[in-house]
Amino acid sequence: MIDRFVGRITRQVRALALPIAAVLIGGLVADRAAAAKPEVFGKTKDGQVVHRFTLQNRKGVVARLITRGATLTELHVPDKRGKTADVVLGFDTVAGYESKDNQYFGCTVGRVCNRIAKGRFTLNGKTYQLALNDGPNHLHGGVERSWDKVVWKGRYVKTKHGPGVRFEYTSPDGEEGYPGTVRATVVYALNDENELRIDFMAETDAPTPVNMTNHSYFNLQGAGAPTVLDHVLTIDADYYTPTDETLIPTGEIAPVDGTPLDFRKPHRIGERIESLIKSPSLGYDHNFVLNGQPGNLRFAARLHDPRSGRTLEVLTTQPGLQFYSGNFLFGQKGKGGKTYAKHSAVCLETQHFPDSPNHPEFPSIILKPGQRYHEVCVYRFRAE
Ligand code: BGC
Repeated sequence: MIDRFVGRITRQVRALALPIAAVLIGGLVADRAAAAKPEVFGKTKDGQVVHRFTLQNRKGVVARLITRGATLTELHVPDKRGKTADVVLGFDTVAGYESKDNQYFGCTVGRVCNRIAKGRFTLNGKTYQLALNDGPNHLHGGVERSWDKVVWKGRYVKTKHGPGVRFEYTSPDGEEGYPGTVRATVVYALNDENELRIDFMAETDAPTPVNMTNHSYFNLQGAGAPTVLDHVLTIDADYYTPTDETLIPTGEIAPVDGTPLDFRKPHRIGERIESLIKSPSLGYDHNFVLNGQPGNLRFAARLHDPRSGRTLEVLTTQPGLQFYSGNFLFGQKGKGGKTYAKHSAVCLETQHFPDSPNHPEFPSIILKPGQRYHEVCVYRFRAE
């Protein structure tokens, strides 16, 4: 009787031991990940150390991130045969990222991504003048201290969405001409569903525009493959925001129906690009008004490469998506000496609409004290 009882207890303890051990070891591994130290990637021209972090999942996906610009530098993804390739453009050194060849590769763009007309906006009766770094307009947060160029604080963290890296940067009042001190946070997390999730957060002590995005350039055959015009794209948008010849929205919200911007059904990127190459945007460089409710994480776009079988799906909480077909890539040399030719990569930048501060009819990007900015972008991969 006692023997039977002891036997039962022993079996129960054994049955519990494995899951308990798994949880303990899992916890230890996760804690270890959270406590792990990043490696040194290099130094900026002015002597700041830039650290590099690595996230890896069970399916062979590897993401690398650096503190300069809270930048995604590498993203290795398996193809339909299980062979991995690095599908994002970037450089091997800090000097590469600091050079003129860097067209915002993989970085976090802020305080305001995309264009502000004539670099000017008015808030609570006061007019602010920002740097003009894109013809007559302001682009991607400025010149010297835009968020792609500053060194963020970074650390490994555990998140609900898998092991991650948390970047923080405090942008002082007046930086690049913007009002208010903004505390910005970007968290990248990689799970075993092959989703790289990016949470963008910000708080301010005075009203200011905030519009953050990730500026990764993708080629699903691998960064450096000659073209992306054979990739097949779907965008869940019935409308877009037409622009003037300097790529500033006219304010109109126009249907994509009957235009080369209709990607509601899948199309090869190169199929209808010719007329756009002859236009001021030199290819695709348009803001799409995403269907569905902003604030809800929902499907935005799908990019498929028939050759490798890799598919990227983009999900977001944001109202818009800037689809940019790498029109200004000019053959610069990137990672491993590979060449980045014109139209050899695309950006699918989830964001609020361009020039929002000058368009009261667009969803507002003004962040006020006491409010919390929080937007999400997910890059999800599969191969088929
Ligand atoms: C813009 C392009 C710009 C590029 C810079 C994109 O977000 O829409 O017009 O040339 O960034 O790399």
